[in-house]
Order: sequence, then C-alpha cells, then structure tokens
Amino acid sequence: MKKILITGGAGFIGSHVVRRFVQKYPAYQIYNLDALTYAGNLENITDIEQAPNYTFIKGDITAESFINHLFEQHQFDGVIHLAAESHVDRSIEDPLAFVKTNVIGTMHLLNAAKKQWEGKEATKRFYHISTDEVYGSLGAEGLFTETTPYDPNSPYSASKASSDHFVRAYGETYGLPYVITNCSNNYGPNHFPEKLIPLFINNIINNKALPVYGNGKYTRDWLFVEDHAVAIDLVFHEGKNHQTYNIGGFNEWQNIDLVKLLCQIMDVKLGRVPGTSEALITYVKDRPGHDLRYAIDASKINKELGWKPSVTFEQGLDRTVDWYLANETWLKNVTSGEYAKYYEKQYE
Ligand code: NAD
Ligand code: TYD
Repeated sequence: MKKILITGGAGFIGSHVVRRFVQKYPAYQIYNLDALTYAGNLENITDIEQAPNYTFIKGDITAESFINHLFEQHQFDGVIHLAAESHVDRSIEDPLAFVKTNVIGTMHLLNAAKKQWEGKEATKRFYHISTDEVYGSLGAEGLFTETTPYDPNSPYSASKASSDHFVRAYGETYGLPYVITNCSNNYGPNHFPEKLIPLFINNIINNKALPVYGNGKYTRDWLFVEDHAVAIDLVFHEGKNHQTYNIGGFNEWQNIDLVKLLCQIMDVKLGRVPGTSEALITYVKDRPGHDLRYAIDASKINKELGWKPSVTFEQGLDRTVDWYLANETWLKNVTSGEYAKYYEKQYE
C-alpha cells in the first residue's frame, strides 16, 4: 500500500492526474490536497470522489504547521506536487502571490518531506511538476533541452524556476529523492478559461471578441492534458532520481494560426457560417515581457522511458471543444462571480 500526496488535484492538470492514479492504482491511497483557489474546482473530479482509495483534503501549502502535521499524520510515500498559481497575466498583476504559493509553499512541502523521510529516502519520491517557461524565450530556431540554462522572464516563470532550484538543492544538499519535469503548454477538458484555448472557446460560444495579444505571432508547443498525465505516471514510477525530464507535444503553433483553426472547428460544431468566429479576432495590447517562442526537445523522456504523445492536435482540439460544448454548466459556474471582475480588469 502506497500513500501518495497529490497537490493541486482540483485544478486543470491535477484533476487528470488524480483521476488516472485513483483509477489505475486501486492499491494506492491517493490524498488530494488543494486550497480550492479560483482555479481549483471539485466539479473536475466528481466521478472519482467516492472511490475507496481517494481522500480530498482542503488546505493551503503555504500553511507551514498544517503541512508538517499532514505529513506526520499520513506518512506519505510519495508527493506529486502540482499546486501553483499558474497564469502569467495574473503574475504580472500580483507577483507576490506567486512567490507565496510557488516558492514558499513548495519549501514547506520540501521541509516536511525531508523531515519525514530522513533515513527512508530509498523508498520515497518527491515529484515536482514544472514548466518549460523557466527556460525563457527562444528565437525562430532551437529547442529547450534539460540542460538549457534557466532564463525566466515573467513573475510566474521566475517563481517556478525558483521552486525548481530549491527542489534540486534539497536533492543535492540533503539527499531528498526528487524528479522534476518541465512541460509545454497543456490544453484539454477542465482548463480554466483564463488561458488562451478555453478563453477563446468560451468567447466564441458567447460571440465575444477574441483578444489576440500583440501581432499573434508568438509560438507555443501544445500537449493534450491526458498525455501529460500519462507522462507524469511514467516519470513518477520509472524516472531516475535527481533527474529532470522535458515533456512536450512536438506540436508548435503560432497563436494566430491556432486561433484560426479553433474558429474553423467551432463554426462547424456550432453550425455557424464559415468565417463567423474568425470575425471575432481582435488584436489587443501585448503582454509585457511576452516570450516569443517555446519549443521542447522531449527526446530524453522518449528514449529513456518510451513516452510520446498519443493524441494528435486535431483529435485533442476536437475532444476539447466537444467537452466544453457538453459541459455548459461547468463553464457557466466557473465564469460567474469573480471571473467577470478578472475579465474586465484584464481586457476591458
Ligand atoms: P491550475 O491553476 O489549473 O491549478 C492549480 C491548482 O492548485 C488549483 O486547484 C488550485 O486551487 C491549487 N492551489 C493554488 N494555490 C494553492 C495553495 N496555496 N495551496 C494548495 N493548493 C493550491 O494549474 P494547472 O494548469 O493545472 O497547472 C498545474 C501545475 O502544472 C502547475 O505547477 C503549473 O506550473 C504546471 N504546468 C502547467 C502547464 C499548463 O499548460 N497549464 C504546463 C506546464 C506545467
Ligand atoms: P496562455 O494560455 O496564457 O499560456 P502561456 O502564457 O503560459 O504560454 O497564453 C498562450 C499564448 O496565447 C501566449 O502567447 C499569450 C497568448 N494569449 C493571447 O494572445 N490572448 C489571451 O487572451 C491569452 C490569455 C493569451
């Protein structure tokens, strides 16, 4: 029997990871720790909430004594740490919130694991989930590898870079058994509509303007969220200690091309005249410090662990759009209340 703590399991990626682990490993006890911030939503995981090997704990990783107590109480064998403030635009407005959760929250988890696991490191694992944004921005050529120097440009990526460094330092200094993965942009069901793809799906449904930042020629590498969950499962079980793995979709898109593809798919799904959604595209003021291009070399995880994406972008976008159209109540719930204030501040 293994006891695994997953943090941030009510969020976008975390909910897919929690579901996979609860369903695939009935012999594990899965503890989902989440503060249920604006981005956390228990509606993401209603299908597994009654599972006998699943426990939800509402709590904040920045609360040091609570975290220490939790580790003493449950004696976790592994941690998969996803809880974070995750949106670049919010980090520009409120960088300190990102330091608190992403840096200090991670520190409390590291300290609690270090204390609990002293002398038992061989059977334990601290898995820190990070982003390719820590590597900064690429020009037209090249890919991020695991040895690309860190060069973060946004408060979000700086806070993730900082937490990555602390995880690595705890491995080197105290022998904490860790792995880190740095993944490219995810998309899929349950994605909060502040990020590009779900925000634009929601706006197309509601016939609202599609705010493309700057000239729209920024490039991201997109990975279907369930493929990320598969990679996380694999790295947690088979990754080597004290190693970093890059995870990516081999799927680069300029924002404007992606948005046009999404518009075409949505016109068909909504039975609208071709071109209707594209007419909503509006170029708006650029994001400060906007990274030009992210692109991942995922050959290490491919060669060492045999992972590669299984879902094509066309299939993934199709499934994503279908999910949002079939889950109107989910979308209405997350876009009521605070969301309207955020939207107004960010875009109007
Ligand atoms: P998300 O914003 O959808 O979810 C974050 C979750 O963490 C939410 O459920 C939230 O309630 C919880 N949380 C936030 N602060 C907390 C705190 N102080 N204590 C406890 N819980 C807290 O984020 P996501 O997109 O699912 O990202 C998950 C992780 O993956 C993050 O660490 C992020 O940096 C990383 N990542 C994301 C992407 C992406 O494209 N979304 C890509 C690579 C890496
Ligand atoms: P986002 O989904 O916020 O992810 P990240 O900044 O972490 O890559 O943004 C993806 C790209 O889309 C990025 O280049 C910024 C751009 N973008 C827009 O053009 N308009 C928007 O309203 C948003 C949210 C993002």
